[in-house]
Amino acid sequence: MGRLAIVSAMESELRGLLASLPQAECVRRAGREFWVGSLGGHEVVLVRSLIGKVAAATTAAVLLEHFGVESLLFTGVAGGLGADVRIGDIVVAGDLLQHDMDASPIFPRFEVPLYGTDRFTADAALSARLHAACEEVLTAIEAGRCEELSRAQLEDCGVRHAPRVHRGLILSGDRFVSSAAEARALQADHPAALAVEMEGAALAQVAHDFGVPCAVMRTISDRADDSAHVDFNRFIADVASRYTHAVAMSLLGM
Ligand code: ADE
Repeated sequence: MGRLAIVSAMESELRGLLASLPQAECVRRAGREFWVGSLGGHEVVLVRSLIGKVAAATTAAVLLEHFGVESLLFTGVAGGLGADVRIGDIVVAGDLLQHDMDASPIFPRFEVPLYGTDRFTADAALSARLHAACEEVLTAIEAGRCEELSRAQLEDCGVRHAPRVHRGLILSGDRFVSSAAEARALQADHPAALAVEMEGAALAQVAHDFGVPCAVMRTISDRADDSAHVDFNRFIADVASRYTHAVAMSLLGM
């Protein structure tokens, strides 16, 4: 895996993991704080990218050019789009697509101009490890032996089912999707989409440009519907960072 970057858009998605890196060196660059340290014997760089595709792309480029990271992991929350993707579930990206890309009629809608594709694929090996780490965390939560996140904390967020891990298409765009009508329109354009967020496909494009592996993991905070803003705020307040923390620890063998 080499030197691994762990990126989240918001501080509230990363704070648990940051707290477990007390010896880290903080390097300020491009308006961000990059925390360089080691976890479980792995060199890591933790950073809050800020929100949206450009913020994610800037952060990824700095990580690759300045910090010499060898793989990229984005973790955070997303709105669920797939019919069986519920709040509290986890989605590990297979492909990532920018749902607001539209250079038609010059290029087909959604195609990233001059790349000849509308999607970038997450690294298979890193994503398989990530998927296994997510499964391990969900099993530990159900068994009451996950140190970072308990069933009671999930239930406080309205999660009463046993969460699942899904793998597949994630959509990214510079829009917080907060109406059932908009979610339906995205589902109609992309029937295979499992979740929608605001950064992953940008990170995946930069990883493609640099030829480095990337993986994206998203916990479902809301259903991208009319109550998305309420569900999102409740989930982000406490649970989001605990999921990131638990999955990263498992991924790094801790
Ligand atoms: N991240 C979490 N929920 C989201 C939503 N509904 N739309 C876009 N990004 C999100």
